[in-house]
Amino acid sequence: MKVRLSEIKNTEPKRSEGNIYELAQSIKNVGLICPLTLNQNYKLLAGRRRFKAVKKLGWKEVDCHILQSGSELYDFKVALEENLKRKPLTDVEVAVAIKEYDELKRKLEGERKGLLPYFGKKPPHRPKEAWTEEKTAEDLSISQQSVSTAIQIAKAVEEHPELVRIKKGGRILSAYKKLKEEKVMQEGLTIEPILKLGDFRELIKKIPDNSIDLILTDPPYEKKYLELWGELGKEAQRVLKPSKFLITYCGQSYLPFVLNTLTKYLNYYWLGMLYHKGQIAQRFEVNMFNRAKPIPFFYKPPLRKQDKWLDDVLISENPSKELHEWGQNIEPVKKLVECFSNVNDTILDPMFGGGSVIKASLLLKRRAIGFEKEKKYYVIGRKNLSKKT
Ligand SMILES: C[S@@+](CC[C@H](N)C(=O)[O-])C[C@H]1O[C@@H](n2cnc3c(N)ncnc32)[C@H](O)[C@@H]1O
Repeated sequence: MKVRLSEIKNTEPKRSEGNIYELAQSIKNVGLICPLTLNQNYKLLAGRRRFKAVKKLGWKEVDCHILQSGSELYDFKVALEENLKRKPLTDVEVAVAIKEYDELKRKLEGERKGLLPYFGKKPPHRPKEAWTEEKTAEDLSISQQSVSTAIQIAKAVEEHPELVRIKKGGRILSAYKKLKEEKVMQEGLTIEPILKLGDFRELIKKIPDNSIDLILTDPPYEKKYLELWGELGKEAQRVLKPSKFLITYCGQSYLPFVLNTLTKYLNYYWLGMLYHKGQIAQRFEVNMFNRAKPIPFFYKPPLRKQDKWLDDVLISENPSKELHEWGQNIEPVKKLVECFSNVNDTILDPMFGGGSVIKASLLLKRRAIGFEKEKKYYVIGRKNLSKKT
C-alpha cells in the first residue's frame, strides 16, 4: 500500500548511510523495486536508505509493506534481520550484475566490433549507434570507470573461478594479472608485431578508437617536425583506451610547445627525465652540456594511477647508434613499458626508428604496433627486431 512519507516514523539514530545519491538515481531510473517495511504504527522497520533516497527525490508517498507485529521485540528482530543478517552484495556479485546488464544491452542495441587494427582495404563493419560501457554507466548512474572495473572483475572470475574467494575487487584484479603474466611467461607470446612503412598520420587512422594500452614514442625534435605533435596528440586521444598513457621523449628546446600542444588532447600526468651517461651533446645556443632529456607523461581521462612505482629519472647508458642515428638505449624504454602496461597489452610506437620501443615491448610479452616513414630505418628496425636479444 502507499503511505505518505510525512506519516512514516524513522526512529533509528542518525548514522552514515553510504552513497544515497546513487541509490536515489537508481530509484529514479527504475522505480522502487522493494517496498519499505513498516509496523502498523508506520514505524520504519526496514529500508532506511530507500526511505532517505525517495525523500531526496521529493516523493510524497511510497509503496510500503505493513507488518502486523504488535510486539516491540518482533519489530526489533525485523530491523535486525535487515541490518545485520541480510548481507550486502559482494564485489563479485555486483560486478557480475553490471556485466550481465552491459551484455544484455549490447545484445539488444548492437555491439562495436573490430577492436583490432585493420590494415586491409575494407574497414570492418561497425554499427553507428553501438552500445558502450559509457552508456551502461549512464543507465546505472555509476562512473564509466566502475563499469569497466566491474566487467574486468567478472571476466577474471569467469576465467579463474578460484578468485571468487578474494573479497575485494581490486585484489581480484591484481591476482588475475599475476596469473595471466605467469601464463604468458610460461607459454610465450606468439603474436608477431605489426610493423608498417609509411607516415603515421595516415596509418594510425586504421587503428580503432579506444584500442591501445600505451603509446610510447620518440619523435624527431627539430623545428621542422613540430607539426607532428598536434597529430600525435589528436590521434592518441582517439586510439588510447580510457586511463591509458602517452609517454614521449622530447627535446629541451620545444618542451613548452610539446606540453601546450599535447594537453589540448590529453591530460598532463608527470615530467620524467632521461639522464644520459657518458658522452653528451654540447648546446652552444644556451651553453649547456645536455645530459637531461624530458619525458612528459600524459593520460586519457579518467585518471587511474599505475600500480607500479617508477623513478622519474631514468638512467640511459650510451645509446646504441649503430642501428639509428637517434636510437635510444633499450633499458629505460623497458622500464617505461614494464611500468605503464601489462603483459599482452598493445603498445604503439608511431615513429619506431631503430625499434627500441617495439623490441622492449616484445621482450616484455606485449603486443606491438610500429610505424616508420623512412624506408632505411624501417628495414633497420625490422632487422633489429629479428635478433633474439
Ligand atoms: C628519434 S627517431 C626514433 C628513434 C627510436 N626511438 C629508436 O630508439 O631507434 C624518430 C623517427 O621518426 C620517424 N618519423 C618522422 N616523421 C614520421 C612520420 N610522420 N611517420 C612515421 N615516422 C616518422 C623518423 O624517420 C625517425 O626514424
